[in-house]
Amino acid sequence: MCSIKTISALPGHPDPVVLEPDFNRVHEIFEKLADRYGKLFTVQFANRPLVVVANANQINFILRKRPDLFGPYSRKNRVLETMKVDGIEAADDHGWKRQREVIAASMESRHMAQYFEYIKAATGDLKNHWITHGENLSKIDLEAEILGFSISVFTSMVFGDLADMPVGEQEVTKNILHNLVPILGRRIDALLPQMHLESFSEDNYFDEDIREIFRAVKNVIARKGSLLNDTNGAGNAVSMVRLLIEAMKEKGSDIRNIKLIENILLIVLASEPTTANTLLRVLFCIAKDPQVQRDIQDEVDAVLGNGGIIEDIEDIKKLKCIDAVILETMRTSSVSRLAIVEAKADLVMDDVEIPAGTPLVLLIARCALDDENFHQARVFDHRRWRSETKVESSKHNGKAFLGFGSGPRSCPGRGLAMLVIKSALAMICGNFQIRLSPEKQPGDKTGFNDKPLSFGLTIEIRDRRHDVAL
Ligand code: HEM
Repeated sequence: MCSIKTISALPGHPDPVVLEPDFNRVHEIFEKLADRYGKLFTVQFANRPLVVVANANQINFILRKRPDLFGPYSRKNRVLETMKVDGIEAADDHGWKRQREVIAASMESRHMAQYFEYIKAATGDLKNHWITHGENLSKIDLEAEILGFSISVFTSMVFGDLADMPVGEQEVTKNILHNLVPILGRRIDALLPQMHLESFSEDNYFDEDIREIFRAVKNVIARKGSLLNDTNGAGNAVSMVRLLIEAMKEKGSDIRNIKLIENILLIVLASEPTTANTLLRVLFCIAKDPQVQRDIQDEVDAVLGNGGIIEDIEDIKKLKCIDAVILETMRTSSVSRLAIVEAKADLVMDDVEIPAGTPLVLLIARCALDDENFHQARVFDHRRWRSETKVESSKHNGKAFLGFGSGPRSCPGRGLAMLVIKSALAMICGNFQIRLSPEKQPGDKTGFNDKPLSFGLTIEIRDRRHDVAL
């Protein structure tokens, strides 16, 4: 018979945790504490105990038992509310289910071919833009270019063609939509430090910006909504806004109970920086390891011939090496480092009693770097994801790969994100060469523990005669 213990019997860090002002580094504090206290321990945060979980089985249990036993962290929700992006991420129970059905409908696989047209256009534009730089290409700011690409591709997928707007209005709206991430990002960066404070100090510029964003998004919704009723076929180009409106009507919901505007902003915020940052991390991995870059070049050459871009969505399925390199990059250096949830009722997990209202920090990235879950977990080896080179006896716990989360609330944009990253990588590796800039000396082999958005990468036009010498 196993005896049940309370969380006060778990190993506990004696001092209150002070969170990093840099949002990108907060996870490190908890990951370091896990090295000291193990895979289930407590820390004091904001005058109450918070449970930290690093065990893959327990994390999967928690993620899969949403929304019944665990819900979103209420303190974080207050911050999302003030930012006006309290859509699906802050929702729970029936509200979440209603929003999830509509959002998932807009991202179903049957729409991928239509979204792919936007991806293809943005990828082709990026290629041409880089080619025109010629010899000077190595001087461009690759990180800014990749973020710009991601913003452009998701803005067009979400909002569609704005050509139906009057020209003046079109330009203003485009500008606002392209600046969503920097504007909302200002607040997101401040998200965790702000959690210390009970009240938000208001920032007038932000309020003004957000009002303008709301106006622009409402305008797009009104236009797409009225075009849906146009029997002449106008407005038939697909966009996420249009598909969201269609799904909403089909389910008999309205803009307010679906929180349409908040969710549109949240989708932009959930897609543009994560996808850009993941793509940059992949580029960093292939710049560090010439053999990996060469493997991808060989695969892309076989699919594309001499350069170009992927024109046919069916060809994406042939990119097995690229798929494996993306998964391995996400395993060793995921942009999603931790998740925070809250217990909704008194419950028992394994032999530990967790009281209702307890916040739990889930170290989702650390699981994938644990030798208990993956063979030589800290070594980058994309072959572990490929059936032909996978060593069957090697440890490979797929459930410990949580870069897109798990369970009913896992990322609904996974398919779209992979489509964008694969298309961009095929174009980049087919036509260009990525290198680490000379001043960048990679430290540890897996390491991204330096600033996540400072990879020190350069790009050149690929000259096949000088493909990286191995
Ligand atoms: C590489 C890029 C991306 C990564 C790493 C990523 C990662 C994640 C993670 C870890 C979660 C939380 C999952 C969980 O709690 O189990 C999430 C949720 C979410 N993601 Fe993504 N995501 C990416 C791209 C996207 C894209 C492209 C979209 C939309 C177009 C998107 C929309 C969402 C939404 C709406 C949620 C909230 C789901 C819910 O609460 O039910 N994400 N994402």
